[in-house]
Amino acid sequence: MNNDILCIYYSRTGKTRKVMEEIATALDCPLLELHDHAHRSGAMGWLRCGLDAMRKKTNAINRIETEQLLWKYKLVILGTPVWAGRCSSVMRAFLKRRGLELDEVAYVITHSSDEPYREVFDQMDTYLESPHVAEVSLRPGSAGYIFWRDQFLKTCADFAGCKLLPIPGEDESNASENKETE
Ligand SMILES: Cc1cc2nc3c(=O)[nH]c(=O)nc-3n(C[C@H](O)[C@H](O)[C@H](O)COP(=O)(O)O)c2cc1C
Repeated sequence: MNNDILCIYYSRTGKTRKVMEEIATALDCPLLELHDHAHRSGAMGWLRCGLDAMRKKTNAINRIETEQLLWKYKLVILGTPVWAGRCSSVMRAFLKRRGLELDEVAYVITHSSDEPYREVFDQMDTYLESPHVAEVSLRPGSAGYIFWRDQFLKTCADFAGCKLLPIPGEDESNASENKETE
């Protein structure tokens, strides 16, 4: 297990979870999930998510247990869905409370449209001491998904000075076949 890198994510419907599971597998690092106690399923839950994101409203979130203090990690990778053009309010809650404890940070955002939502990275940076070092904007299921995920993985591995493990069930040729035209 690579304890120089830590992955932390929030996922409402599982898409960001799947991406972060792949990333944590390839980097062989721990993966922690965030949640709050708001009711976020169904139509009312969807509406609450959108309103919370637009109003930048946050709730208390679960405590996460880490092997070492957050700032001691070489890299902390944060994964969140995009809500109404912003990061999810659950990830915002984490950044508000713990952002200044983070040293080197990388972002993974997932969304359903073709927009890259690069402004979300800048929004998230406002909670950090220094800007993020790597980022990837992914639309799960899109043609370029594997290519851009793997580019991000290479950047993270180079940054942390570690090797990448294969992701079970994936053909290694996928990375070159799925190049996206962004
Ligand atoms: C309240 C809400 C607002 C959303 N807003 C956007 C948006 O502005 N742009 C977009 O492309 N996707 C948007 N989405 C879709 C999610 O970002 C996307 O499906 C994401 O991959 C879901 O991740 P998850 O399964 O980990 O929750 C929104 C989803 C929700 C619930």
